[in-house]
Amino acid sequence: MRRKSVGIVGARGYVGAELIRLLARHPRLELAFVASRELAGRRVAEHVAEFPGALAYEALDAEAVAARAVDALVLALPNGLAAPVADAVMRQNPQCIIVDLSADFRFDERWYYGLPELTRARYAGQRRISNPGCYATAMQLALAPLRDALAAPPVCFGVSGHSGAGTTPSDRNDPVKLRDNLLPYALVGHLHEREVTHRLGRPVEFLPHVAPHFRGLSVTVNLRLTEPTDAAALGERYRAFYAGEPLVRVRDEAPWLSRVAGRHHAEIGGFAVAADGRRAVVVAVLDNLLKGAATQALQNLNRALGGDEWEGIAHD
Ligand SMILES: NC(=O)c1ccc[n+]([C@@H]2O[C@H](COP(=O)([O-])OP(=O)(O)OC[C@H]3O[C@@H](n4cnc5c(N)ncnc54)[C@H](OP(=O)(O)O)[C@@H]3O)[C@@H](O)[C@H]2O)c1
Repeated sequence: MRRKSVGIVGARGYVGAELIRLLARHPRLELAFVASRELAGRRVAEHVAEFPGALAYEALDAEAVAARAVDALVLALPNGLAAPVADAVMRQNPQCIIVDLSADFRFDERWYYGLPELTRARYAGQRRISNPGCYATAMQLALAPLRDALAAPPVCFGVSGHSGAGTTPSDRNDPVKLRDNLLPYALVGHLHEREVTHRLGRPVEFLPHVAPHFRGLSVTVNLRLTEPTDAAALGERYRAFYAGEPLVRVRDEAPWLSRVAGRHHAEIGGFAVAADGRRAVVVAVLDNLLKGAATQALQNLNRALGGDEWEGIAHD
């Protein structure tokens, strides 16, 4: 059977590189082209050691990307830059499946919002797929089992490694400014606060921070509940909700981001309940570049290309 062809735009970035690693060992998909202006002409193998062969990066504008006859395209571009490329592809190559990692279509109801563990039932062969944000993935996974039991907006305290800020230099990925430091930013109205509020249909308050480590994020969620509960019941509720999901693991103790860095799954746990039973705390961790980005994109791509959702995703 012919392998399905995939192109990546924004392939130099952290997420693009993770996607290249995943596609390098995928049994049914093959990388047809990779677009980067900065690395144009250089072999992929020089930048991503896991990808052997002669394939080289190319500098391609939107029209040139749209002219490539691939089965699927992954856009790993900064926010605001994916929409023009997607528009050109939809005009010139409407059959092509597009998975967009930016926020450009996360509020656009014409696009399928691909957080499979929560939205899989709504997938009906859509060719336009918007991949959720990394923090937004962790928050939604942590909140979904209690969505209808909230007495007040949950407060989510987030800490991410600096790869979450991408490769464009800023305070949030400056190793000098981050050393021995914790940087709060966008403490109201963060894009992922709006994304989760929109998707959950409930207001959510999000307090993001960047820490000096490279990859992995943690969200500690404070919840006010309509009915009293205890930690054991909360754990059971989450276990039942995520039963059979290989990429979401529920544990009693608080999960550590260092244990999911470089791995495909999210972990949820640390269930704590106040004496009155109406205030609970839950912790979710994941690798922002994997379950928060590339792994989730591959789950979506696999489904859209007619395969098993977890194909090429080595989870143990
Ligand atoms: N990092 C994360 O943890 C994470 C998690 C979830 C989602 N995302 C989203 O995924 C996307 C990629 O993130 P990232 O962290 O991989 O970003 P990044 O490391 O900063 O990479 C950005 C990529 O876009 C390309 N690019 C930048 N400006 C461009 C322009 N004007 N025209 C064309 N290409 C341009 C860059 O390649 P050239 O400059 O060589 O062309 C590079 O390949 C973003 O939308 C981000 O929000 C990131």
